[in-house]
Amino acid sequence: MVAELQNISKFYGRPGSDTGSLILDQVSLAIEENGSLAVVGPSGSGKSTLLNILGTLDCPSSGKVFLQGRDVSGLDEAELAGLRNQFIGFVFQQHHLLPQLTLAENVLLPVMPVKDKARREEATERAYELIDRLGLKKPHPPPARPAVGGRMPTGCRGEGPGEPAGAFAGR
Ligand SMILES: Nc1ncnc2c1ncn2[C@@H]1O[C@H](COP(=O)(O)OP(=O)(O)OP(=O)(O)O)[C@@H](O)[C@H]1O
Ligand SMILES: [Mg+2]
Repeated sequence: MVAELQNISKFYGRPGSDTGSLILDQVSLAIEENGSLAVVGPSGSGKSTLLNILGTLDCPSSGKVFLQGRDVSGLDEAELAGLRNQFIGFVFQQHHLLPQLTLAENVLLPVMPVKDKARREEATERAYELIDRLGLKKPHPPPARPAVGGRMPTGCRGEGPGEPAGAFAGR
């Protein structure tokens, strides 16, 4: 199982108080390898809240999150950041590109901490491959500015040079 939620609840408000909202109420789901899952529902129903918890960007009020079979509740922030870097691809509605970096540097951001030179070179090669596939030129990729409209094509893809095990898209 790539990802699993067990009885996840999310409550916004002070614990034990009557005011506040129960956004997620005992949600369980499992995503198998190569599986896909669409979370649909009206605005405000808790889709982003669910995806944030699944992506370890937020914590549930109760219940457990398993990624690659591992219970993430005992992990500290640095361990969670490592897990996200290795196994999760996020596709945000907003592109969240860093404007001071080139497009290639933005694409390569997840592999910047990697020390292994061969892996970095492999990732760089793949980054340029993906940039090419999206019709953007090498060897001088344009800066991280949307060419037309408001969104960069890189924000629309679930893939990246780091080959994450899964991609969570949401807004
Ligand atoms: N930090 C927060 N504190 C209190 N309430 C919150 C917080 N974040 C979200 N909510 C509330 O939780 C509910 C679910 O929000 P969420 O953003 O998960 O919905 P959504 O299904 O993603 O909606 P949309 O389709 O508009 O993106 C909403 O009522 C929202 O106001
Ligand atoms: Mg949302």
